Amino acid sequence: MDKLLIEGGVPLQGEAAISGAKNAALPLLCAALLTAEPLHLSNVPHLNDVSTMLRLLAKMGMDVTLDEKSGIALCASRLDRPEAPYDLVKTMRASILTLGPLVARTGQARVSLPGGCAIGARPVDIHIRGLQAMGAEIHVEHGYIHATAKRLHGAKIFCDLVTVTGTENLMMAAALADGITVIENAAREPEVIDLANCLNAMGARVSGAGGDIVTIEGVERLHGARHRIMPDRIETGTFLVAAAATGGRVRLNGTTGAILDAVIEKLREAGAEIRLFDDAIEISAEAPLKAVGLRTAPYPAFPTDMQAQFMAMNCVAEGTAVITETIFENRFMHAQELLRLGADIEINGNTAVVKGVPQLDGATVMATDLRASASLVIAGLVARGETLIDRIYHLDRGYEHIEEKLSQLGARIRRVH
Ligand code: UD1
Repeated sequence: MDKLLIEGGVPLQGEAAISGAKNAALPLLCAALLTAEPLHLSNVPHLNDVSTMLRLLAKMGMDVTLDEKSGIALCASRLDRPEAPYDLVKTMRASILTLGPLVARTGQARVSLPGGCAIGARPVDIHIRGLQAMGAEIHVEHGYIHATAKRLHGAKIFCDLVTVTGTENLMMAAALADGITVIENAAREPEVIDLANCLNAMGARVSGAGGDIVTIEGVERLHGARHRIMPDRIETGTFLVAAAATGGRVRLNGTTGAILDAVIEKLREAGAEIRLFDDAIEISAEAPLKAVGLRTAPYPAFPTDMQAQFMAMNCVAEGTAVITETIFENRFMHAQELLRLGADIEINGNTAVVKGVPQLDGATVMATDLRASASLVIAGLVARGETLIDRIYHLDRGYEHIEEKLSQLGARIRRVH
């Protein structure tokens, strides 16, 4: 199993390119299920989650062709097996995003229940209730969701909780439903807007994406399209925090600050200087930074996917930060590992109190989930001496060539087998 070995203490310097967004790419790949014509996606990130999704779609009968450097053409002219088996779903919960498109396009779907994961229970009841409101017959048996519908119809759906993939699943299903669907309390994440833009390029009629009411007027069929995937705001945020925590000076290309307001505000509060350009962000910082408290919540508030990285940064900041996690009930597992590096963190329910210490010391740590892994990388970059991070397969799910990009910025980091 691969590990990452980091020798900390080097401020990051230089330029790096940000990849396409994982959380936009996954629903966009599933959108190809909605049409018999080719969907061309560019700026597709090279990630294990993307490969898993492509394997899953290919199993269903989708033709997948890699075109230019990071482009993919997907064509679902035939879909013989509208099924997402457990062995793939268990490694990637986003497989649930095939449910809505499959039932809308083929009238049937058999998708494994994702089950819990390290960061929490993560049920999919809102996805199921929404599809039922659109007329799908759904029963859950032997761990699988079986859905059938002659043709879905429009419905008014109120989501009890703001759910990102839930909103995306229902939006895709509604694109081919008969009549108008209104999703209330919809997720407002930029990835939802990216999906809506692609669906509209395919002939769908989606309006209001980015707000909390999304309206979809169903159409008879969708056609092929070309779409460029938006930049990854969490990769961007992770590199910004890594630059700030090491007291570095970095320019990130191919990304925009417009999708990261809450994160940029917190970095400024911590003392980092940030300059925003149309297609790039520059950051410079001098250690030590000031501790910054935060509370995660749905977009546009502070993203839960950046909480772990800020915890790592706060470990060596001046002062005390209170971090409250409101989205996932078990998303502080990185704290235990940060303690092994000498951090001072106290967890009480969904709140972590992080007291800044002057220095972290390298140690062997274990990654427990995707963003926890990113926080350990940041801590390793800051710590004195060597940090060895085990179980980095989590990292490969969501960060493209992270050690190469960080090496390019001067970090002493390498993958060991
Ligand atoms: C997406 C992101 C993930 C991010 C999360 C929150 C993708 C592929 N993943 O995950 O990186 O951390 O948003 O920003 O885009 N919930 C229910 N019932 C449901 C659906 C959700 O109770 O049917 C709960 C969840 O358990 C969680 C909360 O709602 O507590 C938000 O989850 P949700 O937005 O659905 O997360 P994902 O879409 O799975």
